[in-house]
Amino acid sequence: MEKVKIERINDANFYEITRLKVGKEQKNFVASNTYSLAHAYLAQNNGIPVFPFGIFVEEKPIGFLMIGYNIFPNKQNEDANCDWFLKDSYVLWRLMIDKKYQSKGYAKSAVKLALDFVRTFPCGKAKYCWLSYNNDNYVAKSLFKSFGFKEVPEAFYKGGEMPAVLSL
Ligand SMILES: CC(C)(COP(=O)(O)OP(=O)(O)OC[C@H]1O[C@@H](n2cnc3c(N)ncnc32)[C@H](O)[C@@H]1OP(=O)(O)O)[C@@H](O)C(=O)NCCC(=O)NCCS
Repeated sequence: MEKVKIERINDANFYEITRLKVGKEQKNFVASNTYSLAHAYLAQNNGIPVFPFGIFVEEKPIGFLMIGYNIFPNKQNEDANCDWFLKDSYVLWRLMIDKKYQSKGYAKSAVKLALDFVRTFPCGKAKYCWLSYNNDNYVAKSLFKSFGFKEVPEAFYKGGEMPAVLSL
């Protein structure tokens, strides 16, 4: 299989990464890469570490992912005990593969590289990496389950997002 790599967003790659798109029917599942990069800028200004990466196959840009640390989304359930996995944890905040390059195993390789990066603990040691996906997103469900992420239905987020947690 062709070699997948991830590379931090930089002056040279940001334009081509912002041009990548998911399919029409997937637009509810992920923000545009331009929006995500704007969000990363705001988070960083608020002291939240964010690591945006382009995903490449043989130098060709094919996707985007973004890792954060210690982010707190709006929860649906006000019970404070349901979000035990948020504090001092890493989050795989965004992941997309351009529609032209999907179903070729690239997300699987990219998630593996993302988790290798998380396990370098760039913001300090942590017990968990978490993420969330639209509850109708069966591709994301099956992808993350295969890495050992476990759903936390009691911590369902506003907007219908299902959180899932991996012990690091
Ligand atoms: C989710 C997404 C990143 C998967 O990317 P991908 O490169 O197509 O995924 P892969 O080819 O690596 O496949 C990974 C797993 O997903 C599942 N999968 C992928 N394509 C699928 C399809 N068309 N139908 C069913 N399952 C599918 C399979 O479980 C697959 O593992 P397997 O091949 O071992 O069975 C991509 O569909 C995408 O960008 N979707 C829109 C944005 C999104 O949903 N992001 C996630 C938000 S958290």
